[in-house]
Amino acid sequence: SGNDPRLPLQLLIAAPRGFCAGVDRAIEIVERALEKYGAPVYVRHEIVHNRYVVDSLKAKGAIFVEELDEVPDDVPVVFSAHGVPKSVPAEAERRKLLYVDATCPLVSKVHRQAERQIEKGQHILFIGHAGHPEVIGTMGQVPEGQITLVETVEDVAALAFTQDDDLSYLTQTTLSVDDTAEIIEALEARYPQIVAPKAEDICYATSNRQAAVKIIAPKSDLVLVIGAPNSSNSLRLVEVAQRLGTDARLIQRADEIQPEWLEGIGTLGLTAGASAPEKLVREVVDRISEWRLVEEHPIAAAEENMIFKLPRQLTE
Ligand code: F3S
Repeated sequence: SGNDPRLPLQLLIAAPRGFCAGVDRAIEIVERALEKYGAPVYVRHEIVHNRYVVDSLKAKGAIFVEELDEVPDDVPVVFSAHGVPKSVPAEAERRKLLYVDATCPLVSKVHRQAERQIEKGQHILFIGHAGHPEVIGTMGQVPEGQITLVETVEDVAALAFTQDDDLSYLTQTTLSVDDTAEIIEALEARYPQIVAPKAEDICYATSNRQAAVKIIAPKSDLVLVIGAPNSSNSLRLVEVAQRLGTDARLIQRADEIQPEWLEGIGTLGLTAGASAPEKLVREVVDRISEWRLVEEHPIAAAEENMIFKLPRQLTE
């Protein structure tokens, strides 16, 4: 059966979805920096992993670069929400650059824990995905050689540490809750002495978005996740749905949706990663409505009311 605008489609829209407090804050930091200092404001790395957000800020006068050496001496620079290795603010200070740090406070919390664990003489096993800017940033909080990346349960088996070593662990904030639990279990089995972080490092936004997908995926024939291919938390949402046996696809914008995807589908799940604006969700609903009679059902797993304060340099 094909599509027909009279044919009902049950649309389960996950809540919470989309922007988290850290993303909200990071975008506002760039906007306020543009107001306060005037364009151009440089931003080191995509402020959050979303092309729509990046393009909107570019239109307002932000210039995105990957490394600090691409930033001229006399313009302000913002560090992205993912956090940066210590060498980056150090270099900015050496060059006397005006910088604003948009690192999510929940990422900074992990950074401070890393420092404390090193002070206590522990070697850190850091659970995360190689190459992600947050991982580079957190590993760059401590001297080289004192933190080891662990990506999988297999990595745990290959570690050369013994039960006599002082070990602790930390995690990236945007991981799969379930995969991480398995890795931690493997670490604790191999190293019963390992010290856990004070509180879980996976952030509230990541866990809430995954919890909502766990409710909608089993009821859906297909789940669409709005997010960028380099957005860790968005990729994890796709995996959560697939793990429950439901087809799931990551899309950046509504125009990627092919009408064939909806053929034979009675119930569609929809969510958005923490860096995807709500506007893109509405765009998707509008596009789907061209082909099917959409009946929207919001499905809430949790309520969120987190707000993070802006850096003082932008509020004074
Ligand atoms: Fe922060 Fe979590 Fe968002 S770490 S940027 S609140 S996904």
